[in-house]
Amino acid sequence: MKVISSLKEMTLFSKKASAKGSIIGFVPTMGYLHEGHLSLVRRAKKECNVVVVSIFVNPSQFGPKEDLAKYPRDLKRDLALLRPLGVDVVFYPQAKVMYPFGCAAYVDIGGNLTKKLCGAFRPVLFKGVTTIVAKLFNIVLPSKAYFGQKDAQQCVVLEKMVKDLNFPLQVVTLPTVREKDGLAMSSRNSYLAPDERKDAAVIYKSLMLARQMIKKGVRSSIKIKSAMIKELNTVKHIELQYISIVKAETLEDLKTLSGEIIIALALKIGKTRLIDNIRLKL
Ligand code: PAJ
Repeated sequence: MKVISSLKEMTLFSKKASAKGSIIGFVPTMGYLHEGHLSLVRRAKKECNVVVVSIFVNPSQFGPKEDLAKYPRDLKRDLALLRPLGVDVVFYPQAKVMYPFGCAAYVDIGGNLTKKLCGAFRPVLFKGVTTIVAKLFNIVLPSKAYFGQKDAQQCVVLEKMVKDLNFPLQVVTLPTVREKDGLAMSSRNSYLAPDERKDAAVIYKSLMLARQMIKKGVRSSIKIKSAMIKELNTVKHIELQYISIVKAETLEDLKTLSGEIIIALALKIGKTRLIDNIRLKL
């Protein structure tokens, strides 16, 4: 497993691999890896001849008051997790190499897609994500890129970017990997104190309650959201940011549920912001 920090070296590696006819699978991450990330790597390994994983805590997707400085980092541990999976390259660029002149050119998906849900609470998030992922695509030159449904809005935004800007690659979205109690795995779970960690299980519980109601035939968005809020309120110190029930492809709000939907929520437990969602076909 090579660790490459130079942009030129990364591109050269990919060009050589492509010239030999290799399909390059790419898994972009911010590191501090867990089973969620590793599930993407395993799938990439199955479907591609060459697998590149990037580890880069991208400054441009963090707001000024967000957790960029304290975001967990442990390269040694990450490399030890990736090595046994047969990863070919870990791309690990420094911020000053990725953004040598700051960042004057951005990729920004206009319209409502990036302004709602998480975008309403983290205004720079998606502009930062689309910009860094576009840069990474241009450097790594993958044929397939793997993302997790855990970040449902990120997936929709990136699909849109790839389609609208004609990136010559396929986006593959894979299911959310969860802890035993249902909590979606996240690098940020490491911020939670033991009592907060226990309380965090209520997030998935509220999503399962919604699923149960839908199975029983409830189609009213308001009714489902109210029941979820009641469930979430069984735990103290939760600050709900949003619960949204939307069309899966467009993230349009739904009053009455039908078709492919996503139920997504974001909340704070103490100082830690967590997100989760489920996708259902009605
Ligand atoms: P990060 O949070 O490190 O996540 C990297 C990838 O892992 C994303 O595609 C994310 O959706 C996926 N992932 C995270 N938790 C998961 C889980 N529990 N189950 C399945 N997949 C999971 O998302 C980012 O980094 C950044 O925004 C990035 C795309 C790398 C751009 O900087």
